[in-house]
Amino acid sequence: MKILVLHGPNLNLLGSREPGVYGTVTLAGIDAALVALAGELGIEVEICQSNSESALIDKIQSAAGSCLGILINPAAYTHTSVAIRDAISAVVIPTVEVHLSNIHGREEFRARSYIAPVALGQIAGFGMESYLLGLRALFNHIKKGLS
Ligand code: DQA
Repeated sequence: MKILVLHGPNLNLLGSREPGVYGTVTLAGIDAALVALAGELGIEVEICQSNSESALIDKIQSAAGSCLGILINPAAYTHTSVAIRDAISAVVIPTVEVHLSNIHGREEFRARSYIAPVALGQIAGFGMESYLLGLRALFNHIKKGLS
């Protein structure tokens, strides 16, 4: 079982980016924790970060046929991207949306997600743990479908 993990724009800056909001965990730290959890679950993760909407869409499209699930933190594109939402709808791959911060407790514009309606679910507000909870939820969902 392979799962595509996508990190959106500015998440490469984690560690130094607004630590009061996002904490001090780095993207490399999150990726290492995801790889360790994937090992425990006996699955494979392909991880990609991009600041470009088109690169994220290309990755989603290329997951069709090779990945059984997508774990995505679309970052700011959460609140703007019909194109990423359409790509997720088009590939029909179960997708879980995650956020480090609680997007519902911040500025009003962050509470709106274009991705949530086409995702299995959304996990927000638990820092790095959001990703790990999301990976477990996605794994359990896919496993149920395979049995
Ligand atoms: C974020 C929340 C978004 O609103 C923001 O634009 C990000 C990070 C999060 O993980 O909390 O870049 O997705």
